[in-house]
Amino acid sequence: MQAVLDAGGEAVSRLMAQAELRMAELAAGHGPVLARYAGETIAAGGKRLRPLLVYLAAGVPPPETDALVRAAVAVELVHGATLVHDDVLDGSDLRRGRPTVVATGGRWMATATGDLLFARAFAELAHVSVAAVRVLARASTELARGELMQRRDAWKAEVSVERYLARCRLKTAVLFRAACELGALESASRASLAPFGEGIGLAFQILDDVLDVSGPPERTGKPRGADLLDGTVTLPLIIARSRDPELAALDLRTVRAPDDAARVCERIAATGAPGVARGRAMDLVAEAKSTLPSLPGRQRSALELVADGVVERYA
Ligand code: IPE
Ligand code: IPE
Ligand code: MG
Ligand code: MG
Repeated sequence: MQAVLDAGGEAVSRLMAQAELRMAELAAGHGPVLARYAGETIAAGGKRLRPLLVYLAAGVPPPETDALVRAAVAVELVHGATLVHDDVLDGSDLRRGRPTVVATGGRWMATATGDLLFARAFAELAHVSVAAVRVLARASTELARGELMQRRDAWKAEVSVERYLARCRLKTAVLFRAACELGALESASRASLAPFGEGIGLAFQILDDVLDVSGPPERTGKPRGADLLDGTVTLPLIIARSRDPELAALDLRTVRAPDDAARVCERIAATGAPGVARGRAMDLVAEAKSTLPSLPGRQRSALELVADGVVERYA
């Protein structure tokens, strides 16, 4: 992240700070209850990768406009909304190293908090453009379809790699694509960065799934083995099942306690599957970089740094 901020220049750091201020303002303005939960969600931080992509897609240095900040804020708010709702669906109690909204406030609080964040995101885009609203609405719709697909496929150990990738595209890659599209809408050249965004987004989700198996919660801020516990079949497990007959025979519904999940994670890791999945993510990153249109050198390097960061990360 620091390397990207250095490559992006001071304008990017200033814009990131403005997005933080704006998000805090938005969370605070809608009654004390939502202010607490939405405010805590935003204050817990996160990597802020999507706003960064909005900025870098607009140019390096990016134009320091109100519209660009609002576009970045909108993407991060939609991301935050989907995380709050996702933790309800996944039954997860830890996010960004803190208890989730569903864990502290219950389902209805998490539903309302996510709804607020969604609503404020689109209110921001009302100040940007109709095209921007369309881009984010499309991504949000696809994201909802992705989350449903994940529930529909829950506990199905035999899910194919193709179907897994289709789910990742919907639930994660489309928002990365939208971030790039929103930035590009505010750029001078309006060059299309959509395929780049989608490619690194897909790689990002694969890495997230690798970290679910191998990442220590102290670093990821999320519980290890969460995907196994909620029946989500991911690439590391798909690959591991083809290498280890005991894993292939495992009924996922029997993995109920965090200790069971930890044992299965160890077994998946022992097959080397996480490394293979990471390799697949690296290939996707290389492919995504090759789709970049002709861009000024500084912008290209900054976007390439983000792409590399997607697969070289531990959180
Ligand atoms: C988590 O996204 C959800 C996925 C799409 C895998 P991030 O890993 O970007 O979450 P934060 O914003 O840094 O917490
Ligand atoms: C991504 O999937 C969730 C969203 C796109 C909302 P995960 O369920 O793997 O995300 P984490 O691991 O909970 O952040
Ligand atoms: Mg989840
Ligand atoms: Mg995950």
